[in-house]
Order: sequence, then structure tokens, then C-alpha cells
Amino acid sequence: MIVLGIETSCDETAAAIVTDNREIRSNVVLSQLEEHAVYGGVVPEIAARAHIDHIDKVIKAAIDDARISFDDLNGVAATCGPGLIGGVMIGMMSAKAISSVLNIPFIGVNHLEGHLLTARLTDNITFPYLVLLISGGHTQILVAESLGKYKRLGTTLDDAAGECFDKSAKMMGLPYPGGPNIEKIAKECNKPDHAIKRFPLPSPMKGRKNCNFSFSGLKTAVRIHVDKLPDGDLNRNDIADLSYAFQLKTAEILADRCKNAIKLFLDNYGNHTNSPTLVICGGVSANKTIFKKLEDLALNNKMQICAPPLYLSGDNGAMIAWAGIERLKSGQKDSMDFKARPRWSLDPKAPSKPMQT
Ligand code: KG4
Ligand code: ZN
Repeated sequence: MIVLGIETSCDETAAAIVTDNREIRSNVVLSQLEEHAVYGGVVPEIAARAHIDHIDKVIKAAIDDARISFDDLNGVAATCGPGLIGGVMIGMMSAKAISSVLNIPFIGVNHLEGHLLTARLTDNITFPYLVLLISGGHTQILVAESLGKYKRLGTTLDDAAGECFDKSAKMMGLPYPGGPNIEKIAKECNKPDHAIKRFPLPSPMKGRKNCNFSFSGLKTAVRIHVDKLPDGDLNRNDIADLSYAFQLKTAEILADRCKNAIKLFLDNYGNHTNSPTLVICGGVSANKTIFKKLEDLALNNKMQICAPPLYLSGDNGAMIAWAGIERLKSGQKDSMDFKARPRWSLDPKAPSKPMQT
């Protein structure tokens, strides 16, 4: 089975060809970084226009790189939400057009499901598994029970982890996207203990029994530290120290919340799996400090950890194609009146606002 996957929910125009024997035949990602960099974040209208400009050639490149023709496709999947609605519509309508012309199935994919099924594409992880989804728009802990059945254990009360990286980076004068740039400059910090003492940061939600997150207090603390630094261009050493302290604190917060989730998972699902696994996915999962903290936590709890390789951690078409393949293989497909959804929860039973316990 050969499937084309299309991803346009944020600032990447992406398309990929994936087969049901886990072969990524092509994976084309056109980033709009330069278009948005001057604004320090993604501008929805600019993103939508850029998707329109590039979608055709990105799809064509995915087909050509895979050395196939459109006639070889057995299905076409596209992100239909959640995300910036202008971009989502462009990817979805392109997929529907290809589906109608070729008379092949169309599958409308939840972008978050794409991220959390990637571990099954790369490592053939079996259900059930625990997932920490950390991206620019979402920070959630879920149990992937089976295809299409996801139980949310926790979510953020305010900002997402990636958003906190991006906004903190902006305050420090670092370019968008903040995550990779904070990680890069934090490596220049040569006195880590001193950096942590210089820039104390809060640990929101620490000690709470639930699996929810909060990042707005951390972001505000970064703002306060930046404001106290001398006026003018920030000194590179100061930025390196603050980035180091911020990155480490974020990793600690994520690990603290995952500790509760691991306990819940092992208590409730431990008997249903031979190899309990923590999967981390979404753009922030590329961060090495965060991965190391979570790896230590997982290993201490006798769980294995799985994170996608760098080229599949951020937004891409391969994860959407794979989610499409999983759905097609289980006999599912969607109709032409499938609606794009700016919001689309993976767990319909979870409250939209988590309880602040
Ligand atoms: O999953 P993704 O590509 O797009 C969304 O669906 O949001 O995630 C993008 C987010 C951005 O906030 C970006 O700053 C963050 O992932 N990110 C990182 C790293 N690479 C990307 N955050 C921390 N460290 C990184 N190395
Ligand atoms: Zn994403």
C-alpha cells in the first residue's frame, strides 16, 4: 500500500510517500521560517498564502523523490485539524482533489494523532503506550490504547511547552523558532551551577498529584530576569546562562508531571503490555536535555523510551501518511464532506478545561 500524506496545519508545507511496510519513500518539508521570522512567530494569513504558493510543487516533489507516479497511490491522507484553519483547508482540499481525480480513498487525519503514531512507523511500538506530546501548540500526556482510542491523562492549563520556548526566546532576542535556538545557545553556558543560581525559575504544578502542566509562570519569570538585565542588547553570556536554566527547568517540569503519568500507566495498563513504553513526540521532543531527563525517568521505572528521529519530530507529511495507512488498513476512510477542524481533541471525553487540582 502506497499513501501520500499532506501536512499544512502550521508553518510547514509538507508531503511524503510512505508504504505499509514502513518505508518512507520521500519526505518533503518546506519550512516558512523566513516568512515568519521577522514577526517572531507564525502569522496565520502569511502561512495560508505560503501554503497556496507551494503545495503543488511540494506534492509533485514527494511523488518524484519516491520515483512513483500518481497512479501508484492507494490513498491520500491530509491533516484536517487541529491547526491554523487557512492552512488546514489548503492541504485538505488538495488531498480531496487528488482523491476524486484518481478515485482513491481520502483520509482526514488529526495532526496530533500523526505525531503520536510516528513511534509505530519508526519503531513498531505496540498499543498500549504512554505518550508525552510536546509541540508548539500542545502539551499533553495520553495513553494510546488502540488506533483512534486515546485517553488524555493531562494537558496544559495555559501555554504549550513549545510556545513557552518560542516566547522566552523572543524575550531574550533569539530568533524564531525559539526551541532550537535556546538549545543551541544553552550549550555555550560554561558554568551551569552558577547559571541556575543566577536565574532561579519556578516549578509550576510541582508536587500536584495530577498530570497537568502550566508554563505561563515560567515564561513570566524569564521576562522578569530579562528586565533586570542591563538595558540594550543582551550580553551573549547572559542569554546562554538564562537559556541553560530555562531549558533545564522545562525538562524538570515535564519529568515531574510524567512521573505521575507513569505511575498511572503502570497501575492501569502494566498488565496489558510486555514492554511498557514512553513515547515522546512533537517538535520539542527534539531537545536533547529534555530527552535525557525523560529517558532517566523511564529507565528508573523500567520503561523503554522512544522518540522519533529529528527529521520526524517536527511537522512532516510522513506522519500523516502513516496515520492514513493505519486507518486504511483498519478499513476506515473519509468522505468528501469531511470538515476541517481548527480544534480537534484526541480524547472526546476529556474536558476542554482541565480541573486545577
Ligand atoms: O510539532 P511542531 O513542529 O509543530 C506544532 O505542531 O506545533 O513543534 C514546533 C515547536 C516549536 O515551538 C519549536 O520551538 C519547538 O517545537 N522545538 C523545540 C526544538 N525544536 C523544535 N523546542 C525545544 N528544543 C528543540 N530542539
Ligand atoms: Zn506538530
